[in-house]
Amino acid sequence: MCGIVGYTGYAHAANILLDGLERLEYRGYDSAGICVSDGNAGHPLKAIRVKGRLQALRDLTDNGSSVEGTSGIGHTRWATHGEPTVENAHPHLSGGRVAVVHNGIIENYMELRETLKARGYTFQSETDTETIAHLLDYYDKGDPLDAIVRTVMHLRGSFALGILFSDRPGEVYGVRRDSPLIAASSENGNFIASDVPAILQYTRNVTYLDNMEIVCLKPDGISFYNMDGEPIEKTFTTVSWDVEAAEKGGYAHFMLKEIHEQPKAMEDTIRPHIRDGQIVLEELGMTEDEIRSINRIQMVACGSAWHVCMTAKYVMERLAKVPVDVDLASEFRYRNPVLSPGTMLMVVSQSGETADSLAALRYGKDQGMLCLAIVNVVGSSIAREADRVFYTSAGPEIAVATTKAYSTQLAACYMLALHFARVRGTMDEEAYAKHVEALTRLPGQIGEILQGEARMQWLAGKYANTRDAFFIGRGLDYASVLEGALKLKEISYIHAEAYAAGELKHGTISLIEKGSMVLAVATQKDLLEKEVSNIVEVHARGATVLALTMDGNYAMEDEADFTVYIPRTEDVFYPSLVVVPLQLLAYYVSLSRGIDVDKPRNLAKSVTVE
Ligand code: AGP
Repeated sequence: MCGIVGYTGYAHAANILLDGLERLEYRGYDSAGICVSDGNAGHPLKAIRVKGRLQALRDLTDNGSSVEGTSGIGHTRWATHGEPTVENAHPHLSGGRVAVVHNGIIENYMELRETLKARGYTFQSETDTETIAHLLDYYDKGDPLDAIVRTVMHLRGSFALGILFSDRPGEVYGVRRDSPLIAASSENGNFIASDVPAILQYTRNVTYLDNMEIVCLKPDGISFYNMDGEPIEKTFTTVSWDVEAAEKGGYAHFMLKEIHEQPKAMEDTIRPHIRDGQIVLEELGMTEDEIRSINRIQMVACGSAWHVCMTAKYVMERLAKVPVDVDLASEFRYRNPVLSPGTMLMVVSQSGETADSLAALRYGKDQGMLCLAIVNVVGSSIAREADRVFYTSAGPEIAVATTKAYSTQLAACYMLALHFARVRGTMDEEAYAKHVEALTRLPGQIGEILQGEARMQWLAGKYANTRDAFFIGRGLDYASVLEGALKLKEISYIHAEAYAAGELKHGTISLIEKGSMVLAVATQKDLLEKEVSNIVEVHARGATVLALTMDGNYAMEDEADFTVYIPRTEDVFYPSLVVVPLQLLAYYVSLSRGIDVDKPRNLAKSVTVE
């Protein structure tokens, strides 16, 4: 979750580094620092580091102007080894000769630390990163590539590194394994960064390093090398995201902007796959035989992406009649799953860098499974390591709480289920056509729901001071309330839990008392009556019930204190409509509680460590 920026060129490096780090703030951090070479070979490198927000670094460096030099590295740290302190902040130095910034976790850092101490090195921090700086120094005999190769060969774990050598002014090096690192070029200089938004204001000409590739930035060019020190060619792509996409675009927060971007994100994700009323998934590269050969799907993900999997299970089984198992990615590989032949692994991940999801993908590949990934970030690790990739087109999602990426992941799952159903012959043409048509109407229906934003803001006021919130639903509505509860708790810090409505009487209902806030979702026509009886159960015990149901189901008004209506669609697509009021509710409750909606405490946008 750390942020890395490196630059070398003809401009004042410190300003570029600070601006770049600012674009990465959403990744979550607790300290920051920069190191800029003054351009004189052999002059000791100096790091300027702070605990807390980037503003403290700006204050310390007069907004960067007091730091001379045209090449440097910068970092925002999310603590993994060692408390958030200045000493533990990056860049880490070794004798002023090497400076390093690092994203990832070095698992063998303690043994490396002891070895380096025996070689006379002293440590100023508790971090794993400092061992990298000293190793680089130890192996630096004048050839930076050789020093980097020797160093990374000793590292176990994940890393994306930005490196300066005091005797190579004007040069910035980078290398990665299992943590993302991009390189970008412009006429005004060249960059490395952990994520695209950091450099979008300067260039959109980007390439993604693969594992164990080294990059060397010079003011007038970029070169890439493999672990044998041989030059390699890298393909640059033009990033279509413009800076506004990473800005708030007039909204108070990225999250609200991204909630409102959902109609477009859904349109961008669905439209390219609809041709003459058919779902077309050519770039997935799956043959019809391959699809017919799948006799089970194992889905893995984390957080909201796992809720997508829970939804996809119902949809895929109902439409394509393929059995689906769902695991939390952090559990999957450790339960030694019994995987039958013909099982396809599906990984869902917005960032494509979530450590547990990436590890689950690798586990599946080791087991010889066909691995399909649903990912939002082009060129991310999961995308590059999966056998088949379905890219969502949500655009950059900056807010920690996912909204548009979640919605586009649902759309991807619907399209896969419909495509599988048609190939496997489990849906008649009429039902298929009806579903495809309903699918194409979802973006507009989400837009309709957003018209009701003000009412959700009003209803949010009723939750502002609640201590506990209960979300209940049955079937697909249960998968939806899992997401609704997470949205509320992660950005409002209210204790919110989701329950299968039929499960209440097995214990949870003992928690329901006068004033308990219960949000009940009821959209599945075969389950409406049972859902109503669950609402009656909690209402009779004093709960305040907010019901979320489809247009026309007015009987709900007799049982709920407040009712929110959403447009009608096919049962399997309701999760895409239900989630929008739940996102708005969470957003406005968070706002009413004065919380930093885009950067909630303790959370990061991409959890790239276990
Ligand atoms: C949800 O709002 C959170 N941001 C979090 O649960 C997230 O969905 C989870 O960490 C998975 O991230 P990924 O989709 O990038 O793999």
